Amino acid sequence: MSATLITGIGELTTNDPELGRPSSSAVVLDSDRVAWVGPAAAAPAADLRVDVDGRAVLPGWVDSHTHLVFAGDRTDEFEARMAGAPYRAGGIATTVAATRSASDDSLRDTLRRHLAEAASQGTTCVETKTGYGLTTADEERAARIAAEQADDVTFLGAHLVPPGTEAETYLDLVTGPMLEAVAPHVRWADVFCETGAFDVDQSRRVLAAAAARGLGLRVHGNQLGPGPGVALAVEVGAASVDHCTHLTAADVDALASSDTVATLLPACDLSTRQPPAPARRLLDAGATVALASNCNPGSSYTSSMAFCVATAVLQLGMSVAEAVRAATWGGARALRREAGPGAVGVLRPGARADLHVLDAPSVTHLAYRPGVPLTWAVWRKGRRVSSKGA
Ligand code: NIG
Repeated sequence: MSATLITGIGELTTNDPELGRPSSSAVVLDSDRVAWVGPAAAAPAADLRVDVDGRAVLPGWVDSHTHLVFAGDRTDEFEARMAGAPYRAGGIATTVAATRSASDDSLRDTLRRHLAEAASQGTTCVETKTGYGLTTADEERAARIAAEQADDVTFLGAHLVPPGTEAETYLDLVTGPMLEAVAPHVRWADVFCETGAFDVDQSRRVLAAAAARGLGLRVHGNQLGPGPGVALAVEVGAASVDHCTHLTAADVDALASSDTVATLLPACDLSTRQPPAPARRLLDAGATVALASNCNPGSSYTSSMAFCVATAVLQLGMSVAEAVRAATWGGARALRREAGPGAVGVLRPGARADLHVLDAPSVTHLAYRPGVPLTWAVWRKGRRVSSKGA
């Protein structure tokens, strides 16, 4: 792979404290890494030169929360919700039934299609989960297929107690044979700690078994109402607690004094008619915030991180700079991928060559022009994967 010099940058977001947002800058990508960032006038020679003609350049989006190994469609449930029906955890069972019936190849194709859709909108790093299998064979299959294509895979056998199964019996499976079967394919484990899914003791049991098996921890918490998910995530040192829609003052304080990232899913809150997550309270308290799409067929069927950024600004009270950082560096931090060689969510020498060019002079246009497809070009691991401009 040859080196590419990206020049003519109108505004550069690096998320690097030393580089900041330098003006008149250029970036060189070499193989799958960023090789150089600095003043355009001092840029080294490269095999290929791309002039972005005053456009804004930023790291590719890091979507740290998706559920993309699925089959089927829940349009009817969405329509019922828009007519006033509440979102309930039990809807997951509809997708479980469809996913179990699908072939490996159709699950692969669906995953590939959604990853390509996301990449074409600037997403260059994606976490995805199991959780629509809920038998040992189906969860292992989901984890294996996810690991073929996604950057990070999370075991979410504790998504729902399958209808007709006794909770403790199911937990014996999740913390035993199912965990053993998926472990070779996954880096993380997660639990849906919410009324209608798993209570705090059951959730703690799932997380303890996963930690003992060497997996990193994440928690789905405080999505549909106040609850113990955030406190549990902080207690066990989870890398992130995701949703965080209903938070008490104690939850905000706990997150602010921990290393647990609060991952907000604004598209999900909109699609399930939940109130907006308290982004301002979290940021003002000093918590680390990430934004993610939560792309799944039930509660949030969008792969657009730009939509999440625009919503976070327009509805959650985040500044554009905060939202862009949360959707890049914040997601990377939630996946513990923001530092070291091959880091994502940042543009600095040694980082992964994941770069997003907007067809706009500044990232402000993401919120100023909501809903407009602004992606002009995308490089992932140094390869140009999408371009409107070429
Ligand atoms: O993150 N909260 C739990 N899981 C998903 C919803 C999945 C579904 O409804 O199918 C979520 O919103």
